[in-house]
Amino acid sequence: MVNEVIEYLKPFDGGVYFDGTVGMGGHTKAILDASAPGGRVVGVDLDYNAVEAASDNLSSFGDRVKIKYGNYLNIVEILSEEGLSSVDGIVIDLGLGTHQLSSVERGFSIELGGPLDMRYDSTMGISAKEVINRFPQRELEVIFRELGEEWRAKAVAREIVKARTKEEIKDAHELSTIIKRAVAKSLKSSKVRMKIHPATKTFMALRIFVNKELDNLEAFLPVAITALKEGGVIVAISFHSLEDRIVKTVFRRYAGKGGYKAEDRWSENVELPCISILTKKPIIPNPDEVRTNRRARSAKMRAARRISHGD
Ligand SMILES: C[S@@+](CC[C@H](N)C(=O)[O-])C[C@H]1O[C@@H](n2cnc3c(N)ncnc32)[C@H](O)[C@@H]1O
Repeated sequence: MVNEVIEYLKPFDGGVYFDGTVGMGGHTKAILDASAPGGRVVGVDLDYNAVEAASDNLSSFGDRVKIKYGNYLNIVEILSEEGLSSVDGIVIDLGLGTHQLSSVERGFSIELGGPLDMRYDSTMGISAKEVINRFPQRELEVIFRELGEEWRAKAVAREIVKARTKEEIKDAHELSTIIKRAVAKSLKSSKVRMKIHPATKTFMALRIFVNKELDNLEAFLPVAITALKEGGVIVAISFHSLEDRIVKTVFRRYAGKGGYKAEDRWSENVELPCISILTKKPIIPNPDEVRTNRRARSAKMRAARRISHGD
């Protein structure tokens, strides 16, 4: 949704922008092009491979761009390392990048398999392998149901626990075969037809869990809004209904609908900011984009502008 991001962000010459999920650098490049010759972008990613690839892809922009390893959650510290306290625009494009989906290194892909890890930064936190092999059945069920909205969560968790008593589950392909077996058993009784791969929802739930994706997003948005200059715009693209709900709810709170929550006051030293929501309904990709990029089909984009308290 690059065009839509640019349409809302309206990058200008001399503006400074933060890309919290730089990936291969597609959005960062579009912002740099639109803000030429003097606009700048600070971009971060938790995936070292993405940081390296984006740095290569964007090297022609010289010192107009700074790509760093980091969690978007630490936006204030990351900007301050660059001598910045606020920016004219922020973008985050959540979920899995095509670069991760097409790699076998960390087992993100159902089709390709690979070692069961699923962390964007495999030096931190716990891997999907540990979750799958160590967590009690009931906890697995809750993760699959709540984060994957998988209605066969119980059957899937049961089949995983049965399989791991024989041998540790190490590979994403192995896991998808176990899930497929569990789903096939439960489909026989329900006669429901599948439109997506039977392991899609469970894989998504696991990835969201090991990367704490919902917690990161919920904590990030209030801080990010505070890091916007007045008139600055934040754009968030999500791929999961729970993510979109978080974006919608936080935006509404800061737009004065629903009141601030205690956690909005993340620092004693900042005045709580106000925003104006620019997208009454989420923007969805045009059909051409969905045709060329299947991942885009569930994308939802929301945008808001920071305003002064009197506006
Ligand atoms: C959908 S991709 C972004 C694609 C990017 N917009 C582009 O044009 O190539 C999402 C990226 O966010 C990264 N990511 C996920 N959670 C993150 C976090 N908390 N902080 C920084 N990067 C994160 C992932 O590693 C992944 O590369």
